[in-house]
Amino acid sequence: MTATQHPPVEHFILHISDTHFVGGADRLHGSIDSDANLARLFEDFSRSKARPEAIAFTGDLADTGDTDAYERLRAIVEPAAAQIGAQVIWVMGNHDTRTPFRKVLLDSDAGEKSVDTVTDVNGLRVIALDSTVPGHHHGEISDEQYAWLADVLATPAPHGSVIALHHPPVPSLIEPNAFVELREQARFAEAIRGTDVRAVLGGHLHFNTFSEIGGVPVSVASATCYTQDLNVEPGGMRGQDGAQGFNLVHVYGDRVMHTVVPIGEFSTVYEVSADQMQALVSLPPEEASAAMTKGVGASASVEPEFA
Ligand SMILES: [Fe+2]
Ligand SMILES: [Fe+2]
Repeated sequence: MTATQHPPVEHFILHISDTHFVGGADRLHGSIDSDANLARLFEDFSRSKARPEAIAFTGDLADTGDTDAYERLRAIVEPAAAQIGAQVIWVMGNHDTRTPFRKVLLDSDAGEKSVDTVTDVNGLRVIALDSTVPGHHHGEISDEQYAWLADVLATPAPHGSVIALHHPPVPSLIEPNAFVELREQARFAEAIRGTDVRAVLGGHLHFNTFSEIGGVPVSVASATCYTQDLNVEPGGMRGQDGAQGFNLVHVYGDRVMHTVVPIGEFSTVYEVSADQMQALVSLPPEEASAAMTKGVGASASVEPEFA
């Protein structure tokens, strides 16, 4: 078979958002088991045996900023991250509260200052920007934060930068929600235009969307707790228990690729083992193509011809 025309991936990050862990034993909105959804994500992901270098959580990690919610979140994420050898990058969301967020997730007692961090992911710089305004749900980046960001970006990172923030710098598809979006997005655009920022990761919306700002691609991960139904009457909203997911972020020398992965189990249409795939790729191109058509195009029960 023809070898890939692309160079190997340089960096791999998991992008997870809006876990909304609740305090105590309550369920989110009375029905969603936020803890179970995230545990399921890691359980499913472990089957891939993939090894991301980092896991970026783009905010709304706890639903009402409860300490025990952060503790349970850390108890699920830390062992999962250790197992796959990934660093964890925590980003504040409007449902989070800075002091317990810091104390439990970052082992820090720095209190209510904005939580802005820089993580070196083997040469790729991930900048976590706190877009929250305590007591409010919209997003803002302060003058002080913009000055800090300019200072960080003044020196390019070996493999460029990724900014992770909760409030994505995109238009609001659900128009009435414009009041909770990131304010002064034009200023954000100018802050990153022409810098080494290669991607902006966001959350907050509870659905996937992709856009650009200041010449940089923006990718919004959906939520792991519940998602927004976008097939509602204009101006309305309906949270739904379905379509939860997370994103794979693959960074190549010349591009960043975002891939949406749903959480959950679905019925099998066909299945090809790794050994069978290996046999397939070792065939001459015409034979591989014929085997693929014959083998995987039929049904799950058919033994692939190239086995
Ligand atoms: Fe959220
Ligand atoms: Fe949010």
